[in-house]
Amino acid sequence: MTVVLWPVANEQVLSGLLDLAAHDASPDGVMPPVEGPPGWTPENMEAFREFHRARFGGLDGAARTVMYAILVDANVVGMIRLSRLDEPETMETGIWVGRSYRGRGFAAAALEALLVEAGAAGARTVIAETTPGNAAALGVLRRRGAVLTEESGKVRASMAVPPACIDAIARVEPSGAWPCTPRRGPTTH
Ligand SMILES: CC(C)(COP(=O)(O)OP(=O)(O)OC[C@H]1O[C@@H](n2cnc3c(N)ncnc32)[C@H](O)[C@@H]1OP(=O)(O)O)[C@@H](O)C(=O)NCCC(=O)NCCS
Repeated sequence: MTVVLWPVANEQVLSGLLDLAAHDASPDGVMPPVEGPPGWTPENMEAFREFHRARFGGLDGAARTVMYAILVDANVVGMIRLSRLDEPETMETGIWVGRSYRGRGFAAAALEALLVEAGAAGARTVIAETTPGNAAALGVLRRRGAVLTEESGKVRASMAVPPACIDAIARVEPSGAWPCTPRRGPTTH
């Protein structure tokens, strides 16, 4: 299995990610809450686009965040994020995988790849936040050896970036054409 992290930095990649989200995830799992009926609507699809457009600038942009589409064999299977924090050498991650792609090790592989990116960007520690009831998130984080601490109903996970990642010189940069084609047109279910 080859997992590629592709920055969501233009409309084409964003459209591929929204295509997955709208078919294979619920809005509250992939974006900040938007008022309105549950499920995907034209309004929250546009909010999803705006949320990601505001992060097209990546780690050095205003939001200090890069959102990566997780690609497996040219299929978009999810998203993993890397954000700068004020704490030195510390960055934060968050992740979601489309429902039909879960349980196949994709989140674990994407997290490994993300730690390489974080190391190359100067991080020594990557943190994540979740809730005590999120067994899947805790499973991914535990598998990666995260140190978990619970406070005020939240679990904070802290992962050391392996030295090999800190020293990584050869970085795989997505290049060439976006390999994915949309499965169907926009959907509102
Ligand atoms: C959390 C999430 C990203 C996991 O994605 P995934 O691709 O299914 O995870 P993986 O297949 O890579 O699993 C990695 C590890 O977590 C464990 N795991 C995955 N889902 C699990 C579950 N529901 N319960 C318990 N453990 C679970 C796996 O067993 C595996 O550990 P192992 O290798 O020791 O067996 C996915 O469930 C998701 O998108 N959830 C909704 C969004 C979310 O909660 N994101 C986390 C925010 S920090």
